[in-house]
Amino acid sequence: MLSDGELFWIIENGVRFTGMPAFGGVHRAQDSWNLVLFIRHLPQLTMEERAEMERYNRRGPWKPPWLPALPVPNGEAGPK
Ligand code: HEM
Repeated sequence: MLSDGELFWIIENGVRFTGMPAFGGVHRAQDSWNLVLFIRHLPQLTMEERAEMERYNRRGPWKPPWLPALPVPNGEAGPK
């Protein structure tokens, strides 16, 4: 299991010889720490949070063939 600091380092510096880009320099360090917090929260993500995130996804809700379609709050299609 990576530590928060290791995760932060990978986000900032990328992974050498792979397609993983370095995001340091393209945004503030705080944004990388926010990403660490977001990743740590993922195992506890609720269906409501997931549905909310999908509403903000410009590509629309992702419907994998092996999962039933998520209910979208208020029946909105989300931002275009
Ligand atoms: C342990 C942490 C991570 C590892 C080992 C890792 C590794 C990788 C690898 C190997 C790729 C290349 C995949 C491919 O081309 O087939 C990749 C791509 C990518 N990673 Fe990560 N990654 C990590 C964390 C993250 C995080 C936290 C983010 C952002 C939330 C992120 C964003 C991306 C993006 C956007 C790409 C695609 C870049 C492009 O092709 O334009 N990665 N990563």
